[in-house]
Amino acid sequence: MCGIFGFIGKRAAAPLLVEGLRRLEYRGYDSSGIVVKNGDLQVYKKVGKVSELSSILPNHIEGYSGIAHTRWATHGEVNDVNAHPHLNDKADIAIVHNGIIDNARDIRKRLEKKGYLLKSETDSETLAHMITIGMDSGQTPIEAVRQTLKRLTGTWGLCVLFKDYEQIICARNGSPLLIGKGDGESFVSSDPHALSHHTQNIFFLEDGDLAIIDRDGVEITRLEGGVSDTSMTVVEDEWEEADISGYPHFMLKEIHEQPEALRRCITGRLDKANGGAKLGGLKLEPVRLRTAPHVRLIGCGTALNACKIGQLAIESLARIPAVAHVASEFRYNDPVINPNAIHFAVSQSGETADTISAVKEIHLKGGEVHGIVNVVGSTIARLCGQGVYIHSGPEQAVASTKAFTNMVASLLLFSIRIGRTRSFSRERGRSLIDNFQNIPSQMEEYLSNPGPIEEAVELVKHAKSVLFLGRGLSAPVASEGALKLMEVAYIPCLAYPAGEMKHGPIALLEKDSPVIVIAPNDKHREKTVSSMHECKARGAKIILIHEDGDPISEEADVAISIPKCDPLLTPLLSVVPTQLIAYQTALELGCDVDRPRNLAKSVTVE
Ligand code: G6P
Repeated sequence: MCGIFGFIGKRAAAPLLVEGLRRLEYRGYDSSGIVVKNGDLQVYKKVGKVSELSSILPNHIEGYSGIAHTRWATHGEVNDVNAHPHLNDKADIAIVHNGIIDNARDIRKRLEKKGYLLKSETDSETLAHMITIGMDSGQTPIEAVRQTLKRLTGTWGLCVLFKDYEQIICARNGSPLLIGKGDGESFVSSDPHALSHHTQNIFFLEDGDLAIIDRDGVEITRLEGGVSDTSMTVVEDEWEEADISGYPHFMLKEIHEQPEALRRCITGRLDKANGGAKLGGLKLEPVRLRTAPHVRLIGCGTALNACKIGQLAIESLARIPAVAHVASEFRYNDPVINPNAIHFAVSQSGETADTISAVKEIHLKGGEVHGIVNVVGSTIARLCGQGVYIHSGPEQAVASTKAFTNMVASLLLFSIRIGRTRSFSRERGRSLIDNFQNIPSQMEEYLSNPGPIEEAVELVKHAKSVLFLGRGLSAPVASEGALKLMEVAYIPCLAYPAGEMKHGPIALLEKDSPVIVIAPNDKHREKTVSSMHECKARGAKIILIHEDGDPISEEADVAISIPKCDPLLTPLLSVVPTQLIAYQTALELGCDVDRPRNLAKSVTVE
């Protein structure tokens, strides 16, 4: 989704801006642009990839400060004019903006009445003109930005560059923005990933912060006046391995990184002696775990599928009601919040607007929320102030893979933790822990011999639609497999709990319809096999994901076997073949695997 990068220092700005944009590419966008202060403000923008923007840039652009943007259209179609940066009429102020200005329509009308000519259809351009009005009336740049923002409703991550001032003004309200301080230079970005190789000294702006940055310093105030509490954080560099290291795509690289990422997630958290799990960041005492009335888990997309697995595992191990919620629905359904309940916000990026709104709704109603988050220092991590970092490392492909498995692993660890406090024995806990420890090497074992993925791809690649079936913990795995194939290969996919298939989707089945069945050797296996037979009877082709040595493999058209493990842990293994099928299908269909159309890695608007 929209990304911002900015630089002010003693080095040439343009190459740094372009490189910053490249590092934001993984988030998904449709156009990009930069503005560099070189006497005048020089703007270059272009629809498409950053490489297309690069192709229109002169070989050398002078100038030591500038701001840059990748746009994911919300207001106005995808074209060069609507791409950011936007200039005011005199071309002495340039802005880049993430977020949505809700009252932009009224502001546009008022500006047009005053004679301003708006060139784009965006809500963002209005800001450049409003700041101009303030400065024309004698306000300083920071005051003009402040007074402009006070008139807005909506969300912003905003950067403003001035032809006549050696500074960049930045502001945040609902859209992430970070400032990085280097030696004699300063950076700004909407994503820590674009800053990490420049500096580890980061100011994570809070909502309502307004900052002036120049070469030598950062001054952060509050929108309503007064100094901000936001201080510098030195971030640990978890993100250094973000290049593609010989893989053709980030998605494939990240699928293969799962064993290592999972080891990072569980190391030090498995409590073999007590048959439990240690999650220090949760700050949940045994008495809270024992007396909590229920658990709620909230997320979007892949994170939501992880929540659904968490729901089943927590309920099963701890005998406590648990529910997974679609984050975008949560706030608007005016949920009843019990302050004693345990709430989790699950998010790879920690910046998903829908999930952030849900966290705020729970806080407003007196509840606490724990984050299950990948990006350290992200908005959700900071809002919650407690939780579990999943330690996947940077995930660059839009389609999430290694973050999914680590979200699931973190929720399974929690289910063991709360389960031991409330219900099951040390022996059961120990056996689970033993099994858990083996999963990373079992993943490696599977990845070194992934089975007939190509044959599965042959069956799905030209299908009108693909049905994914599973029961129990495998039902959300089916949902995740379907989401992945749909996201990267643009094939309509349906995921159903296997038993529900006969109540609707069976109508879709005809000769050769591909059905992907996830049937590990758990208590649901027999029933899932019955559903598989019902599909076969209608001529469907079965791609079966089953455990090693299970004779049901003979009944499938394509049988993909995964290593045997404790039934609770099967999602960590059974999801991997679905990821490979999605990847390989997208590749065969010539799709842009890492950056599927219309999708964004981190959706920062509601
Ligand atoms: C977007 C992405 C999905 C992701 C979802 C939630 O829709 O395309 O891949 O699962 O956001 O993102 P989060 O960062 O909150 O996990």
